[in-house]
Formats: sequence, C-alpha cells, structure tokens
Amino acid sequence: MIVQAKNGRQVLLKPVQSNEYDKLTYYLQHLQPETTRRFGPHSFDRETIGGLFKNTETYMGYIALDMDSDEVVAYSIVKKGFLEHDSLRLRSYGLTLDAKTDCTFAPSVADAWQSLGVGNSLFQFVLSDLQTLGLKRIILWGGVQCSNTRAVNYYIKNGFTTLGQFEYNGDNYDMVLNVG
Ligand SMILES: CC(C)(COP(=O)(O)OP(=O)(O)OC[C@H]1O[C@@H](n2cnc3c(N)ncnc32)[C@H](O)[C@@H]1OP(=O)(O)O)[C@@H](O)C(=O)NCCC(=O)NCCS
Repeated sequence: MIVQAKNGRQVLLKPVQSNEYDKLTYYLQHLQPETTRRFGPHSFDRETIGGLFKNTETYMGYIALDMDSDEVVAYSIVKKGFLEHDSLRLRSYGLTLDAKTDCTFAPSVADAWQSLGVGNSLFQFVLSDLQTLGLKRIILWGGVQCSNTRAVNYYIKNGFTTLGQFEYNGDNYDMVLNVG
C-alpha cells in the first residue's frame, strides 16, 4: 500500500521480507538515542532480525519504505500472544490473556520522519493485517513511558485505552486496543 507522508514523499507500507533484513538492520542501527530510549523490543543486529522473522508463526515485521531512496523509514513488530514477563502485571488489571487471539506490538519511525503521519499509516496497515489473521487484542510491548507524549497521543489517536501504570526506569502505562 502506498501513502503520502506530510513531507510530500511517497511511502510503501509492507510486511518485511527476507531480502529487506539488511535494510531493516541499517535502519535500526541508525536510530538516534532519543528513539532507542523509547523503542527496543529486541537487539538491532542482522542475526536477531533473521532469527525472529524465520519464526513466522510468532513474529511479524512491517516496514515503511521511502519510495525515492528505497530506505526503511518506519518499522513495527508484532508478536503473537503476550510477553511472558509482562503477564502477571497484565493479569493484575483483570485481563484474561489468550495466546491465540492476543498480540503484542511495538512501533518506531525514523527520527527525521516522525510526526509526518507515517506512524499512523503503518499502524492502520498493521491493524488490517491483524484483523485478517483473526487477532482480537493488541497489547503494547512493555507499555509506553508516561513521558513519551508523542507515543501516548499516537496510541490514544489509534483507539488504545490505558489499563494501568507501572514503574520500570520511570513511569509507564500499559495500554490495549480491542480489535473488532
Ligand atoms: C510514536 C511514533 C511511532 C508515532 O509515529 P509518528 O509517525 O511520529 O506519528 P504520526 O505523525 O503518525 O502522528 C500520530 C499521532 O501521534 C501524535 N503526535 C505526533 N507527533 C506529535 C508531537 N510532536 N507531539 C505530540 N503528539 C504527536 C498525534 O496524536 C498524531 O495524530 P494527529 O497527527 O492526527 O494529531 C514515533 O513518533 C516514534 O517512533 N517515536 C519514537 C519511538 C517510540 O516512542 N516508540 C513507541 C514506544 S512505546
């Protein structure tokens, strides 16, 4: 799917494929500290990326490509099910976790491309894929830092609601979206 970012550039939204792992690695390794302080679901080396997405039953990756440069400008990862180490906390809000219909989500956009609508567009693309796969609920991967106003607004904008708050390197919200 092709969309136009607010800088006028055309961006292709797609599931990541094995011939794009090098590009994705380059993208991840060039994120600025301001972004990697907020986004770090896994290591950013080529081996990790190849290993994760070989496991197509569990992990799905989605990218946005700038059609001029063919560079990755945004990336989101979805894990089917929930993170085991977050499960106690998530259950403490009264959630009944379901490994088959829950999934866990982490988004990122390249620093120079943030606030240009790419995050929203990629999320809508991911959402429609998850709906097709029959997933019913999206849980944030390790929550979101309360100080991360842009991300909190982005989740609210996309319909997420807050379950509660927890402390880990500062205050964080757990948020979820029930998918129709
Ligand atoms: C959070 C993130 C994925 C959002 O993607 P984005 O492309 O920057 O956001 P978009 O331009 O699509 O805007 C989506 C919504 O976010 C909010 N938003 C965007 N820029 C914002 C800003 N500068 N200040 C406050 N809110 C902002 C708005 O609600 C916006 O919706 P609107 O434009 O309709 O008002 C992206 O900024 C990012 O990668 N940040 C660093 C990593 C990160 O925080 N990941 C999440 C970890 S939990």
